[in-house]
Amino acid sequence: MMIIRSTIRADLEVLAALHAESLPTSLFTALGHDALVRFYAYVEASPYETAWTAAEGGKVVGVCVVSYEPDSVLRRFVSHAPIAFARELGKLVVRDAGIRGKIVQKLREPSGEPHAPEVTQIFTDQALRGRGIGAALLRACEAKLRTARISRYFVHTERDDNTAGIRFYRREGFTQIGESRSFGRAFLVMQKDL
Ligand SMILES: CC(C)(COP(=O)(O)OP(=O)(O)OC[C@H]1O[C@@H](n2cnc3c(N)ncnc32)[C@H](O)[C@@H]1OP(=O)(O)O)[C@@H](O)C(=O)NCCC(=O)NCCS
Repeated sequence: MMIIRSTIRADLEVLAALHAESLPTSLFTALGHDALVRFYAYVEASPYETAWTAAEGGKVVGVCVVSYEPDSVLRRFVSHAPIAFARELGKLVVRDAGIRGKIVQKLREPSGEPHAPEVTQIFTDQALRGRGIGAALLRACEAKLRTARISRYFVHTERDDNTAGIRFYRREGFTQIGESRSFGRAFLVMQKDL
């Protein structure tokens, strides 16, 4: 039986592996496994983020993170443990020299767009997709937003080579309100009224 919990309370190692497998082009995936483990530990303790996990047979099979301050999440994560971040970034720069400039630019330039609250991460176990786990995670997150009298929320999703992800959000009632660029890639900005 699948259970949705409004907390991470999961094996962070498993969660990090699931993120890397599901979101291979994300910045945190590029930073590596240790950065992912630290990121989800950070999210769990953060007052600005809420996470939901789907578990089946005691194993985490899906995650959804909502940020109420999405513009500053990277900056906050870096300030939380700057030395560990610098070490992980250093290793990444050896592999991808261009990424350092993009991260520095991102840290310096808040977008200024009022796109909050925002689903910053959502992914489910590849072997279990299409069974409603993603939809159940969004339902749980929407219930909390409605309780807090929040009337809309947002998502940035990759514009290119992401037909399945975009279809998922459309089916879930999101509509496109614009486009943005981050780390050199194009994203659709989508909104859902609650
Ligand atoms: C998008 C995602 C979270 C949906 O989770 P899910 O558990 O499959 O969600 P549901 O079962 O509730 O919905 C399935 C819908 O998602 C879409 N979908 C995306 N990838 C899919 C896949 N590999 N298999 C089945 N459906 C998929 C389809 O539109 C499907 O709708 P349909 O049943 O009408 O065809 C999941 O596919 C995923 O983790 N993708 C990789 C990470 C990602 O792209 N995240 C979102 C972008 S930021």
